[in-house]
Amino acid sequence: MDPIEYPRSVRGMYRHLRDRLGDVVPTYELKMKAEFAVDINRIKRERNAIILGHNYMEPALFHSVPDYTGDSLELSRVAASSTCDIIVFCGVKFMAETAKILNPGRMVLLPSPKGGCSLAESITAADVRALKAKFPGAPVVTYVNTYAGVKAECDYCCTSSNSAAVVRHLLDGGAERVVFLPDEYLGRNTASELDLPFVLAYKDDGGDIVSGPVPQGGPVVIGWRGRCEVHEQFTVEDVQNVRKQFPGVFVLAHPECSPEVIDAADFSGSTSAMIRRVQQMETGRYLLLTECSMGDNIVSSNPKAEMIRLCSLRCPHMGEITLEQTLGALLLNRYEIDVPGEVRDRARRSLERMIAILPRR
Ligand code: 13P
Ligand code: SF4
Repeated sequence: MDPIEYPRSVRGMYRHLRDRLGDVVPTYELKMKAEFAVDINRIKRERNAIILGHNYMEPALFHSVPDYTGDSLELSRVAASSTCDIIVFCGVKFMAETAKILNPGRMVLLPSPKGGCSLAESITAADVRALKAKFPGAPVVTYVNTYAGVKAECDYCCTSSNSAAVVRHLLDGGAERVVFLPDEYLGRNTASELDLPFVLAYKDDGGDIVSGPVPQGGPVVIGWRGRCEVHEQFTVEDVQNVRKQFPGVFVLAHPECSPEVIDAADFSGSTSAMIRRVQQMETGRYLLLTECSMGDNIVSSNPKAEMIRLCSLRCPHMGEITLEQTLGALLLNRYEIDVPGEVRDRARRSLERMIAILPRR
């Protein structure tokens, strides 16, 4: 895949942004952002750097500096094969860490140290060790939204676009119980897609790992009580209210939403899968149940799509990444991501096992 090209002059960049975002970003702001973007792209070339931009980046950044945009899986694959000296990850910390794990010889920069994630915070490496002691022999799959220490304890990684494929692969290999961490809803949605029972494990008040009864002898997914602080807020009532007001609306939901919300939606998939679905349908009215910047990013590339958003919901962590911070990252080498060697090598195994079972690109 070729990198995205942008105009090199401030005037050209301003026009480029105005054509895409004239309806959503005020003119004075676009002018300022065009100047930042041109500086960033110049320094990026001078330093042999690459910028990766997650689909949740704010619209002006999303449309002006990333060499590649995409979901977690797509960006990890680009990071793994990059030969640039520096990778600037416009996303959150677990994504930048994944880039470092897959490409340890490069300098990886995260523009804001505040780019966290409530799912990644919901589990520790010690929790995974305790789960393995409670469910001996069960392979452990971790959603990519975790830190390196957790990935290092797990057998496989997965993303929102391949969780069912990874669990199916383990069941086909003879596993009866699969531990799936840390997103309870992604775990429940994956189990439901595969028609498997789901049992929740969690830490009780005394810090011990407990769970509901685990069916013996049959395939079962054992999940963890982690939640995305953004997606857990969408409700079935939200969907019903919008359907009442906008009959015919097509509802897209990220699989970090609750199973009830996924059932009420028309389509569920990773951030890129949702973008592709809107592109395939071209016209129409959509409700997007995910981080709300992505709605602006979609309509700016698909002007015939009308997006109804529940726009109070932004990911506070993704929102930390701005053009100003990205310029600072390139000028000052901040904030450099480091993953110690032994953790990195073990975490890499779980990522590589996932990549090995994916269809070739
Ligand atoms: P995607 O892999 O679907 O882009 O999801 C990442 C994420 O953090 C969604 O909240
Ligand atoms: Fe994490 Fe949720 Fe933000 Fe995605 S939207 S980075 S899962 S907190």
